[in-house]
Amino acid sequence: MVGAEALPKIRIIYESGAPERVIEFEGSGPFHHDGEPGSILDILLGHGIHLEHACGGKCACTTCHVILKEGDQNLSPSTEKEDDELDTAPGLTMHSRLGCQAIVKGDITIVIPKYTINQVSGSH
Ligand code: FES
Repeated sequence: MVGAEALPKIRIIYESGAPERVIEFEGSGPFHHDGEPGSILDILLGHGIHLEHACGGKCACTTCHVILKEGDQNLSPSTEKEDDELDTAPGLTMHSRLGCQAIVKGDITIVIPKYTINQVSGSH
């Protein structure tokens, strides 16, 4: 069978142990109204997958923190503003990105951390 060209895929792994999700997307967005058009946040929300985004995708919180597992070359480079904001994220790693800022250009695999600032400060 001659297949159509494969669409870019985002594989989502949950640190919490929730079942993995895989979404395929077409085009560059916007798919939703929060975050940079074509960003991880934009694509996930536009495909019915929840990702925290307390500041509305404005690079002013860290609740959309994700950890990139594969596909570094398929994300837009981070900006200084994103790096500054990320510095305050709980569980920061070398591969951390803000979902609302990182624009997806091809296949990637991300891990959604178990805790965000929202959840940490909301727990008793
Ligand atoms: S949603 Fe606030 S920084 Fe991404």
